[in-house]
Amino acid sequence: KVALKDFLHIDDFSKDTILKMLDRAIEVKALLKSGDRSFRPFEGKTMAMIFTKPSMRTRVSFETGFTLLGGHATYLGPDDIQMGKREETRDIARVLCRYNDIIMARVFAHQDILDLAKYSTVPVINGLTDYNHPCQIMADALTMIEHIGRFEGTKVVYVGDGNNIVHSWLLMASVVPFHFVCACPKGFEPDAKTVEKARKAGISKIEITNDPKEAVKGADVVYSDVWASMGQKEEAEYRRQVFKGFQVNQELMEMAGSKAFFMHCLPAERGVEVTEEVIEAPNSIVFPQAENRMHAQNAIMLHVLGK
Ligand code: CP
Ligand code: NVA
Repeated sequence: KVALKDFLHIDDFSKDTILKMLDRAIEVKALLKSGDRSFRPFEGKTMAMIFTKPSMRTRVSFETGFTLLGGHATYLGPDDIQMGKREETRDIARVLCRYNDIIMARVFAHQDILDLAKYSTVPVINGLTDYNHPCQIMADALTMIEHIGRFEGTKVVYVGDGNNIVHSWLLMASVVPFHFVCACPKGFEPDAKTVEKARKAGISKIEITNDPKEAVKGADVVYSDVWASMGQKEEAEYRRQVFKGFQVNQELMEMAGSKAFFMHCLPAERGVEVTEEVIEAPNSIVFPQAENRMHAQNAIMLHVLGK
């Protein structure tokens, strides 16, 4: 694959590049964890961070990671630039790239991140759209390498809504071989074109099912996310009815088997998609997973800046 300016979708990159980024994440994480603050590749660099949706992890991990490696990041919240309302996306891109070395954005419509990338002369990093969340899945793969010893060849069973997280898992499966299963209620399957793309790539085993109990058997990871994503919160009550049976609880984790870790991109709604017992259990790795957002993204930023 050709060298790319942006980080928008995992399958824009080759397996080799993805694995190299994960190796780099491990290397720079070790350095930062040792207390060493001498590695400052982003010295004199600036990053604009556009958020049209709420965030804790993405905002803080990007800002902190970029700062720790010598750079300066500016947070632009939903009320600051009012993308598409106060100003057109293409104008925002063309202005921000004149002040900054990177634009990171979390938006609703996926087209908005594509437009930012099209009109920006500097790298654009996708911090979540309605369609995907590639930085999250990079952090998840990193966490699996640390806890399982490998990512390739594992079995990841996602239980819940076929949403942006699932699309990034599917795009990862188009590049790196593993077994991905999405267990979701009927009518809440992931985007058919993305499933097709992942299957056609012929790299990974892909299963989409409506039976979570059967799906989780032998899983290395049981993965959960909210049933109503940002922008769908008015559907939350309705979804709670439809998604009954897709809660990750002790019974489901027992069906998965003793080697299964629990993962969740967070924020989590305890008692809804996951029980308190499961998220607080010793095999829940949700906090190392959250921590790894910063380390995975540091490697992504190093990659797009050619460092
Ligand atoms: N997982 C994740 O992206 O968290 P935030 O929404 O808090 O950024
Ligand atoms: N699917 C969730 C992920 C949050 C990190 C959402 O889009 O709200």
